[in-house]
Amino acid sequence: MQRITVETTPIEGQKPGTSGLRKKTRVFMGAHYLENFVQAIWTGIGGVEGKTLVLGGDGRYFNDRAAQVILRMAAAAGVRKVIVGRDALLSTPAASNLIRLRGSDGGIILSASHNPGGPDEDFGVKFNMPNGGPAPEDVTARIFEATKRVKSYDIIETQDIDLSKPGTERLGAMEIEIVDPVSDYAALMESLFDFDAIRDLLGSGFRIRFDAMHAVTGPYARVILEDKLGAPPGSVVHAEPLPDFGGGHPDPNPIWAKELMDVMFGADAPDFGAASDGDGDRNMIVGWGIYVTPSDSLAVLAANAHLAPGYASGLKGVARSMPTSRALDRVADKLGLDCYETPTGWKFFGNLLDDGRVTLCGEESAGTGSDHVREKDGLWAVLLWLNILAAKRQSVAEIMTAHWNEFGRNYYSRHDYEGVEPEKANALVDELRDGLATLPGKKFSGLVVETADEFAYDDPVDGSRSERQGIRIGFSGGARIVFRLSGTGTVGATLRVYLENVETDPARLHRAQQEALAPVIAAADAIAGIARHTGRTEPDVMT
Ligand code: G6P
Ligand code: ZN
Repeated sequence: MQRITVETTPIEGQKPGTSGLRKKTRVFMGAHYLENFVQAIWTGIGGVEGKTLVLGGDGRYFNDRAAQVILRMAAAAGVRKVIVGRDALLSTPAASNLIRLRGSDGGIILSASHNPGGPDEDFGVKFNMPNGGPAPEDVTARIFEATKRVKSYDIIETQDIDLSKPGTERLGAMEIEIVDPVSDYAALMESLFDFDAIRDLLGSGFRIRFDAMHAVTGPYARVILEDKLGAPPGSVVHAEPLPDFGGGHPDPNPIWAKELMDVMFGADAPDFGAASDGDGDRNMIVGWGIYVTPSDSLAVLAANAHLAPGYASGLKGVARSMPTSRALDRVADKLGLDCYETPTGWKFFGNLLDDGRVTLCGEESAGTGSDHVREKDGLWAVLLWLNILAAKRQSVAEIMTAHWNEFGRNYYSRHDYEGVEPEKANALVDELRDGLATLPGKKFSGLVVETADEFAYDDPVDGSRSERQGIRIGFSGGARIVFRLSGTGTVGATLRVYLENVETDPARLHRAQQEALAPVIAAADAIAGIARHTGRTEPDVMT
């Protein structure tokens, strides 16, 4: 075992995006690529000597190799201890929990979230702070700066550490504690939810289907839903984590979780269906014959969270990312809760949660969570839904109908144009930005523009300002369009168009989503010239 210093030169493009550094797996496997970035993390967070870190990932291809490299670099850099999930597995929320539970100095999560995995697919590395949340922009900026200056890194040359069994290993002076990835997380869930009530519900013939999409939540869901809550074996499907997610796209939405959708819309469907993504932080909720949009799910959870023991005393406040529908705002209004609007990216919720301003938050991109950790949490959302269903003894469809009757319905859809040439996408956004001032008062497919601006966020806790976070067009009557370029793609640019229309007429609460949004969709193209700029007449994905 020998500590060596390896000479290197900066590699371009190691700029962390919405959620860490994400690249093609082969890029990460290239000479010095991972090592340079890890060295930049050490530098960016002010060194790691004497620190305790958590390490784990979603099990995708290269997860095991990357973990060994990071352990050897951590030991060489003087890290005191690394707490690592067995087989280097940890879901993102479980990693966040472990960082907090152990009072550690942060952690490294290996994941490209919902992106496919495999040698020709995606990989990612993300640093989380001692509060368990993703590094904020000033830290990721320092990491990026460090990637531009890195000249060498230290690493120990040694055999692989056996991570297959819980226990303690050593690498030089560094301790490696290998933990069961599930148990601490399961205990946290048990402290928040009424497991007895959920057990009764599941024992009453209420059937569930949880699709782990061959990703990290399989082992978590089996322990929690089947072993602890008594769902019949087989309620959790695709439960074995696989390096390539079985060739699938572990993104829980109606397109990529089509198999679940087909089951839930078929004859003899279970009462409740759910799925999670590669690293376990996203969720999809679907009832028998009804898909619940993430924005609606967030609103329903906010309206009913008090039914779960962990939230029985009510919510301090709520937050949503800017493009997320304003269904949440309607609930907050009625309950007299503060409702914050943040830029896309979970990290923006961190300060609000740490400061005790909000308890619950969520995003249209299938993320919901609370102050129990500092990441969104897929299984947590599933369990809160089950807790609410157990308390109300209604079907998902009945809950949604009652919710819309009480609060009104925000019809909502996101249209994605993927793999657009970056110049064309930027030209579209630039032209929109330049024309914003001319829009108010203009009419598009019957909708009158009331407001038009580019979203900038002033963090009320630390005073930091984040600009250029998406273009918002508000119409009289409450319809809204948001245009934004994705910060997580790995190929070309993805234009996201978020469409929303408000309906309070009880007779019109059950229309088809795209039909209810038709005038808003037409207005979006008229305002942004999507077809003119991109040559596309149809989005690649509609959620
Ligand atoms: C990741 C982040 C989320 C964010 C999502 C969408 O999943 O963790 O917080 O909402 O990306 O990002 P994008 O930039 O692709 O719209
Ligand atoms: Zn994820």
